[in-house]
Amino acid sequence: MGKQADLDKVRQAILDNNICPELASGATNLVMGDGNIDADIVFIGEAPGKKEDEQGLPFVGAAGKFLNEMLAAADMDRSDVFITNIVKYRPPNNRDPLPEEKKAFWPYLLKQLQIIQPKVVITLGRHSMEYFLPDMKISQIHGQAKRIQFGDDKLVIIPLYHPAAALYNGGMRQTLIDDFLQVPQVVAKL
Ligand code: URA
Repeated sequence: MGKQADLDKVRQAILDNNICPELASGATNLVMGDGNIDADIVFIGEAPGKKEDEQGLPFVGAAGKFLNEMLAAADMDRSDVFITNIVKYRPPNNRDPLPEEKKAFWPYLLKQLQIIQPKVVITLGRHSMEYFLPDMKISQIHGQAKRIQFGDDKLVIIPLYHPAAALYNGGMRQTLIDDFLQVPQVVAKL
């Protein structure tokens, strides 16, 4: 079976298993991801916001616009990468996802990665970093490639700041842009 069919099964499993019913009842869409399912790079954000929930696509609001700009500056675009979130329904009023919500969606994120088989996972913000790199602080390791064991394979994680957090914070914004521009070199070296 093809990758897209396998990814469709992951979506169906989230529905069949009634994952996070409270979030589901307040959401318009289950936002699974967007981009190239054969990509070497997968970006993982936190959870859909209002625009993402409306359109059923990740990172289409202000943070997404900033992400698109950074991709362009690094000579990439959305069709070169795959973009998803750890939590796949919008939390009410854009609150942070709860620990139990992240835990509930984590196995489905892993399945997506097992199907897509990227070389590199770029986590955006601490919510998506924490399961891959537990006990690490984003302020200390942002932009650094970390090799982890992932099932039988090795996977490289590059933790970056979240574009929404960095958008209006001058110092963090520049740090995120600088880290982002290093990504192609890091990937080329793998
Ligand atoms: N922030 C996220 O973490 N994900 C989105 O899809 C949009 C904003």
